[in-house]
Amino acid sequence: MALYSEKVMDHFLHPRNVGVIEDANAVGEVGNAKCGDIMKMYLKIEDDIIQDVKFETFGCGSAIASSSMATEMIKGKPLSEAMQLTNQAVTEALDGLPAHKLHCSVLAEEAIQSALEDYRKRQEKEVAE
Ligand code: FES
Repeated sequence: MALYSEKVMDHFLHPRNVGVIEDANAVGEVGNAKCGDIMKMYLKIEDDIIQDVKFETFGCGSAIASSSMATEMIKGKPLSEAMQLTNQAVTEALDGLPAHKLHCSVLAEEAIQSALEDYRKRQEKEVAE
C-alpha cells in the first residue's frame, strides 16, 4: 500500500485556498516546536459564516494537504461548525495519514482554532469600544 493516499497527494500537489486574505477579520498562526513547521490561516467571516479562507503553510506535504483539506471543509460553513472541526475529521477526509504524520493534521485544526479565537477577541474588542 502506498504511504500516502491519492487524496493526500492531490491536495499536496494542488493545494486549494493557498494565499493571503488582505482584509481577513481573523488570522491564526501555529507552529510545531518539534519539526519547526508553521501554518497561518486567514478567515473572512460575515454574519457568522466563513465566507473565505486561505492558508500559508511552511511545512511538510502532510501539513500542506491537511491545511488544504481543512480549508475546503470550513469554507462557507457557519462558525459553530468550523469550531467542531477536528484533526481526525481532516485525516479521514484525506483517507488517512501515516501514524507518524498525524501531528501534521493537528496543526490544521489548531490553526483554525487559533483564527477563530482571534475573531472572538476582535469581536469582544469591538463591543468594548
Ligand atoms: Fe511538521 Fe508535518 S512534519 S507538520
